[in-house]
Amino acid sequence: MKRQQTIRIAAAGDIHCSPENRDRVVGAFAALEDTVDLILLAGDLTTHGEPEQAVVLADACRGLTLPIFAVLGNHDWHSGRQDEVVDVITSAGVRVLERSWATYEIRGASVGVVGTKGFVGGFPDSELPDFGEPLLRQVYAETTAEVEALELGLEAVSHCGLRIVLLHYAPTTTTLVGEPPVIWAFLGSDRLGRPIRDHRPDLVLNGHAHAGTFAGSIEDVPVYNVAVPVMERDFWVFELEGGVDAPGDQPDIHVETEAAEPPGEHRGPH
Ligand SMILES: [Fe+2]
Ligand SMILES: [Fe+2]
Repeated sequence: MKRQQTIRIAAAGDIHCSPENRDRVVGAFAALEDTVDLILLAGDLTTHGEPEQAVVLADACRGLTLPIFAVLGNHDWHSGRQDEVVDVITSAGVRVLERSWATYEIRGASVGVVGTKGFVGGFPDSELPDFGEPLLRQVYAETTAEVEALELGLEAVSHCGLRIVLLHYAPTTTTLVGEPPVIWAFLGSDRLGRPIRDHRPDLVLNGHAHAGTFAGSIEDVPVYNVAVPVMERDFWVFELEGGVDAPGDQPDIHVETEAAEPPGEHRGPH
């Protein structure tokens, strides 16, 4: 008989750490210890990708015993010092996923996290084609590399009881509703959704769209925009329930949230 295991995952994107919000960030992370099993960060960890901003996140994470996985966002690349940002938070125990994946065992349940920043490209009726000037084709190729990494990662974690995709850019328009449709092409790409449709992970998280919608989907796969301005709180805690006894067994998954009411809309930078 299949034993059910509840895994509690705290997720947030667009924390945009800086010395100005240090106290709030440190307090929010400290409150998670002993209350969740895993922390997932969906990019835009800093305001402008400066290492001293990353130090704020590092200080918030260093004392925690919880596993923490993160992807970068566009803001973390802004200063061209993304490698230093990664070094700073890695030294505090954060595992940064860049076109990669990781697995983690939580009380007998295997959790696979496939993580990458994602990129732009748009959605049907307004999509960047692979055509024309080399610079534009380079943008297309960058998204292709992200899609291929997602595909490989999802193949690699296919044996896991729970499979999660962690992105910054959106793989669906359903989490972008609220943002002006004319900028959706800069907020994500429908192409990121293809490996998700093919592999059907249990949970997909994105950020970036500060004025987007919290709960979305790709077919029957739940997708959540966990940008802090969208959630109107520091973290959202997801409870995933799955059987853990039989390797490869597909559990019944219930994604539950702490609050009954979905958060409202917020506009701002991405
Ligand atoms: Fe962003
Ligand atoms: Fe952001």
